Amino acid sequence: MKTQVAIIGGGPAGLLLSQVLNRAGVATVVLERKDRAYVLARIRAGVLEWGTVEMLRAAGVGDRMDREGQVHEGCYLTSGDRMIRLDFHESCGKQVMVYGQTEVTRDLYAAQDAVGTTIIHDAADVALHGVDGDTPHVTWTKDGHEHRLDCDYIAGCDGFHGVSRPTIPSDIRREFEKVYPFGWLGVLSETPPAAHELIYANHERGFALASMRNPMLSRYYIQVPLTDRVEDWSDAAFWDELKRRLPAEVAASLITGPTIEKSIAPLRSFVSEPMRWGRLFLCGDAAHIVPPTGAKGLNLAVSDVHYLSAALIRFYGQGDAAGLESYSADALARVWGAMRFSWQMTTLLHRFPEQSGFDRRMQEAELAQIASSPAARRLLAENYTGLPY
Ligand code: FAD
Ligand code: DHB
Repeated sequence: MKTQVAIIGGGPAGLLLSQVLNRAGVATVVLERKDRAYVLARIRAGVLEWGTVEMLRAAGVGDRMDREGQVHEGCYLTSGDRMIRLDFHESCGKQVMVYGQTEVTRDLYAAQDAVGTTIIHDAADVALHGVDGDTPHVTWTKDGHEHRLDCDYIAGCDGFHGVSRPTIPSDIRREFEKVYPFGWLGVLSETPPAAHELIYANHERGFALASMRNPMLSRYYIQVPLTDRVEDWSDAAFWDELKRRLPAEVAASLITGPTIEKSIAPLRSFVSEPMRWGRLFLCGDAAHIVPPTGAKGLNLAVSDVHYLSAALIRFYGQGDAAGLESYSADALARVWGAMRFSWQMTTLLHRFPEQSGFDRRMQEAELAQIASSPAARRLLAENYTGLPY
């Protein structure tokens, strides 16, 4: 089998890259370890930056998002009962779209099926070969047989635990990491959202986030110790704890119900440099992880795809490899901007085990400045709605 670009991983990064390249006449094959139902069952991000919205529209997958997604012009940061509204529109003229990653992935699969691209599911033991030469290839096993795909380039879109990043020799890779001493317990519930806009809550008992998917589907998160397990949290215990951390007026009107999904995710900041080695380009979580507090993970995967797809289209269309040469530097500049913002939001809003009275006052002072200074709100809004590509 032969193609131009072999894409490892059929998450949002891999599927969007395949979609954009195919529309420009560049051939791809996507290799995904899991089956489609598994990929679509993963509940993850919910907030799309406007650059992401425009990328999805340009890729021909924006119709359902524009019909069913919700445009948000602001959100709340709270400290105890105090609510600070960030007005994105007033601060920086921008907005975000609330539309779940699951739906983005579903739309991408539908569009890829319509174009007739090759997505190979249940591909086991994927391995990359000859990445530092001129004729790379990928092998995998499926149904007891070994398969081989020859290609010009490989896009490693296989997430944090994928095989692409470790293919880069360890003496070439430089990794930067910060692990946070807590996780997020997230639930999905078929209840109306707590408020019309998202609420990021700083509270003595720990961080909480009230988000949503649609008028009858809410998504909530609370900070929990890394030692907690999902089984430790009954629905009743979750709702009690969430209500304690939200401002009293929001908690009083919160509608609770059975949860339909419950999971715990650890929080981490991670970057692997460079994002290119030979004919391999890393995209999305394969190269970097952000703590979810800034809603940046999915959006960064999309901005990587923006740079890589433009570079590959330029190469195949005009024979110009300049974009491929600068891909790692271009993508990393934006990655580090989002890393900084996600770290800042995480530090501002969570309770840390060793936090001193001084550290707590620093959080309060920063929140007070956000409440009083249009300049501080503008900076937050610019970062939250998305730094320029
Ligand atoms: P992924 O979505 O991880 O996709 C990678 C794909 O590669 C997967 O389908 C995987 O099965 C496949 N794969 C892996 N290994 C191989 C292999 N060896 N061979 C072939 N295929 C392989 N971000 C937010 O902004 N907000 C959130 O609330 C949020 N919650 C999250 C919760 C969890 C549990 C996780 C893990 C992430 C969360 N994120 C969140 C981050 C966001 O979902 C990711 O940034 C986004 O999914 C990145 O997309 P991706 O395509 O790069 O990687
Ligand atoms: C959601 C997740 C986030 O990490 C975030 O910052 C905002 C919203 C969500 O799942 O809705």
